[in-house]
Amino acid sequence: MIQNPREYKGAFRRMTRYEGGMNSEPTYDKGRHLGPTTPSPWVTRFAPLAPAGGAVLDLACGGGRHGRHFLGRGHPVVLLDRDISDVQDLAGRADVEIIEADLESGSALPFAGRQFAAIVVTNYLWRPILPLLADAVAEGGLLIYETFGLGNEDYSRPRNPDHLLRPGELLETFGKNLQVVAYEHGLRRDPKPRVIQRIAAVKGGAPVPIEPES
Ligand SMILES: C[S@@+](CC[C@H](N)C(=O)[O-])C[C@H]1O[C@@H](n2cnc3c(N)ncnc32)[C@H](O)[C@@H]1O
Repeated sequence: MIQNPREYKGAFRRMTRYEGGMNSEPTYDKGRHLGPTTPSPWVTRFAPLAPAGGAVLDLACGGGRHGRHFLGRGHPVVLLDRDISDVQDLAGRADVEIIEADLESGSALPFAGRQFAAIVVTNYLWRPILPLLADAVAEGGLLIYETFGLGNEDYSRPRNPDHLLRPGELLETFGKNLQVVAYEHGLRRDPKPRVIQRIAAVKGGAPVPIEPES
């Protein structure tokens, strides 16, 4: 599912229709992405660290499973992907902004200059934008990143090293500017073997509550 850009879509298109509809739970079972539709336990575990009511960016959102999770927690969300077809059911909500953008086009990021209470990225890697993400986390805000790591190529896609994190890479990238709350890199076998790396980090020095994984 992680692909290099095949086409340049030109200017970013922001969708700000207001049509009502307030379902806060996932309302779809399948989509073009055919990926998981329930949020990652890593994301749900650390989502409570996002300052209440603050805007959350779900980057390369796919079907928006994590944006939907934060909506359910009362956050306004920004859903960004080069293919926004699987979040169209959320278009028009006052608490949803949908941005269609190619993050790998070399253009200015469509969220440049903005800061978010939380940024969530899962199952997507484009290294040039990693340093910019820490800047886009507001003071006191949260970054959650989870994607595949080197070694995954022995089990399944993605196999391209451009799409696989080196051991410690998220720690090195974000540990400089953010307070790392949790980090893991390793092989998980359930529901299928895959190598993943993931981090949860906050901007600010104050200790944050670490609740048991739910
Ligand atoms: C594996 S899916 C992950 C979706 C979602 N984050 C999740 O975990 O459910 C990867 C997503 O990255 C998006 N994507 C890939 N290349 C992109 C690019 N250049 N710009 C923006 N989005 C991109 C795809 O459209 C797809 O929705």
